[in-house]
Amino acid sequence: MKKFFKWVGLIAAGLLGIVVLSLGVIFFLSEVRLNKLYQVEVTPVAIPSDAASIAEGKRLFATRGCGDCHKSNGAGGDFIDDPLLGRINAANLTTGQGGRVGSFSDDDWVRAIRHGVGPDGKPLWIMPSQEFNAINDKDLGALIAYIKSLPAVDMEISEKRLGPLGRALLVTSDQVAVLPAERIDHAAPRPAAVEVAATVEYGAYQAQTCVGCHGPTLSGGAIPGVPAEPPYPANLTPNPETGLGTWTEADFVQAIRTGVRPDGSTINPTVMPWPNFAQMSDTELSALWLYLQSIPAKPEGQR
Ligand code: HEC
Ligand code: HEC
Repeated sequence: MKKFFKWVGLIAAGLLGIVVLSLGVIFFLSEVRLNKLYQVEVTPVAIPSDAASIAEGKRLFATRGCGDCHKSNGAGGDFIDDPLLGRINAANLTTGQGGRVGSFSDDDWVRAIRHGVGPDGKPLWIMPSQEFNAINDKDLGALIAYIKSLPAVDMEISEKRLGPLGRALLVTSDQVAVLPAERIDHAAPRPAAVEVAATVEYGAYQAQTCVGCHGPTLSGGAIPGVPAEPPYPANLTPNPETGLGTWTEADFVQAIRTGVRPDGSTINPTVMPWPNFAQMSDTELSALWLYLQSIPAKPEGQR
């Protein structure tokens, strides 16, 4: 009997050793990536100061989804706070207390938004710059001009921390873009600006705002790595059963502008920010619809 317990003890100690060792390896590998320094050659962007550009920047702040995380006043705050995943708050983008942008140069703004890299050269966490990298100079300039014009709001941002599960996700899975800077080719030449028109190309440019929730293939389903309950993002591909296969362009425009589906049911505005997307122009929505019709139909949740 004694011998038996000795063996059980040894096996348990061995298993515990393996767990501690893997946690150590995960911690080490994640630290290296969290602290990697990125040397980014920023292509300067002209930042306008006229009222029309600032108004356009305000619209883009809503339609590009910045307000979903940084809140409509730009002061950010709680976003993910989970003992296992970690605590990551959206930055305070105003010059109030708790914000860092007061000392940002124009290049720092561009580096943060387009490259997902902070002024210290380290990768920003969760800030989805891979979706913003293609934003053209005119739109980005207007966006920055608007954010700079925001009234100062005091909002202390708790220090960020990546928990054991967050670190394990970073190291073992590429489903969650914990460090978007890793997914961007920082040396790539700037893509040519897409012409503003009701075209599939301009729709693809707009749809970069939708992939964060609806997934890279836009087939919807639960967002990997995000603790959330249904309703999950919908299937936006032309699948006739679970997607938008039976919708018309008018149905789509109505859904985005009023949150009402063709069957009369409403889209939950707390999980699907349609009140922000309602500010999209007719051209933007037509282009988006053309693009959504052009992508392959997929069953729901095939990310
Ligand atoms: C999915 C949520 C999310 C969205 C959407 C988002 N951000 Fe962020 N953003 C963050 C988080 C989280 C941080 C803090 C990252 C960190 O501290 O490592 C951040 C940081 C930033 C920073 C750096 C500020 C600083 O103090 O270091 C800027 C600038 C910024 N975001 C601008 C934008 C703009 C502009 C948009 C829209 C085009 C946007 N963000 C959309 C989550 C988001
Ligand atoms: C912050 C996450 C998020 C973003 C960003 C987002 N969506 Fe959604 N979307 C959802 C969720 C969640 C639902 C399901 C809501 C419900 O069932 O009430 C949804 C539902 C929809 C629906 C209703 C479809 C149906 O069959 O029920 C449409 C249309 C839609 N989204 C289009 C878009 C478009 C276009 C974009 C980009 C411009 C976008 N969404 C960006 C989360 C998001």
